[in-house]
Amino acid sequence: MAAAKDSLGRPISDLRISVTDRCNFRCPYCMPKEAFGPDHPFLAAERLMTRDELLRIVGSFVALGVRKVRLTGGEPLLRTDLPDIIRSIKGDLGVPDVSLTTNGWFLGKQAKALKQAGLDRLNVSVDALDNAIAGRLGFSSSRVLEAVDAAAAEGFPIKINCVVQRGVNDSEIEPLCEYFRRKGHILRFIEFMDVGNTNHWSGTQVVPAREVVSRINAVWPLVPVEPAFRGEVAARYRYADGMGEIGIVSSVTEPFCKDCHRARLSADGKLFTCLFASSGWDVLGMLRSGGDDDAIEAHLRGIWVARADRYSDLRAEMIAAGAAREKVEMSYIGG
Ligand SMILES: C[S@@+](CC[C@H](N)C(=O)[O-])C[C@H]1O[C@@H](n2cnc3c(N)ncnc32)[C@H](O)[C@@H]1O
Ligand code: SF4
Repeated sequence: MAAAKDSLGRPISDLRISVTDRCNFRCPYCMPKEAFGPDHPFLAAERLMTRDELLRIVGSFVALGVRKVRLTGGEPLLRTDLPDIIRSIKGDLGVPDVSLTTNGWFLGKQAKALKQAGLDRLNVSVDALDNAIAGRLGFSSSRVLEAVDAAAAEGFPIKINCVVQRGVNDSEIEPLCEYFRRKGHILRFIEFMDVGNTNHWSGTQVVPAREVVSRINAVWPLVPVEPAFRGEVAARYRYADGMGEIGIVSSVTEPFCKDCHRARLSADGKLFTCLFASSGWDVLGMLRSGGDDDAIEAHLRGIWVARADRYSDLRAEMIAAGAAREKVEMSYIGG
């Protein structure tokens, strides 16, 4: 059956799942220490989707048209049953593309098990090479870089995610390019986004995608590359000297809502149809109160068909009109 389409004609094709809202890092743009301290109301273990629950829900999304599943969080490698989850999504549900986004801290030890479980691809977040800057962001870069090498040795295709904040790590743009060009991994620069309510987002800290491209182009000339598929979030460029590729995710300065084919499942099994939503639909609650797979699929289809979200397109207007709203945190909804 053809994939369900929303009210703006966007088919559902991707599902992003937060498998836990917890993380061992406190990146200031995502889980700032002051807001995510000991008093933060993290989800109790019994509120997280179990592996079996998660598989049933993912199965309903697959019936709707989902062909790509990304596991994220919080930090997904904190979940000890992650290889089993991956094995079932690949093996039992037959999802063609299963990927993982991780901060890399535990990746060195887990890379082999993830490969054996059938994981297809990895994104590792590296915001700085310089340990002093990385330390300010909450991690030591050397351990993460070693883990990237270990994962590459397992044969994973790897993309590196870097969130750029002006005055924080924008001095790292060229050093990161230099390093990852040589390693052969695609580096993706992500504009600092106004996710959640705690990261003190300000437009002045956003380094526009255009500026990032022009800085890199001044050192290593770049050539634009056609998107690999409709709905690809990163604009792609290749180095003219043949040393690989970079991507730019410009959700603030050049929103791509018109091609957003992504649903999100929070760690407690709620469906969100936009990263910037205020509330979601309680799919896990429906399952736990006895909803069968057909009823769940019909419910999800109804939600997707009615979907009209395009927050990033409307961001500037909403902020100017003082219509900013409470949003859920990225660690909970899945980044
Ligand atoms: C929320 S994290 C979850 C996965 C894992 N913990 C990690 O950091 O890769 C997923 C991605 O979201 C990005 N991210 C978090 N907060 C962001 C923000 N305010 N703006 C842009 N990207 C953000 C992170 O850098 C990371 O690449
Ligand atoms: S970006 Fe990832 S590593 Fe950093 S605090 Fe958020 S969930 Fe943790």
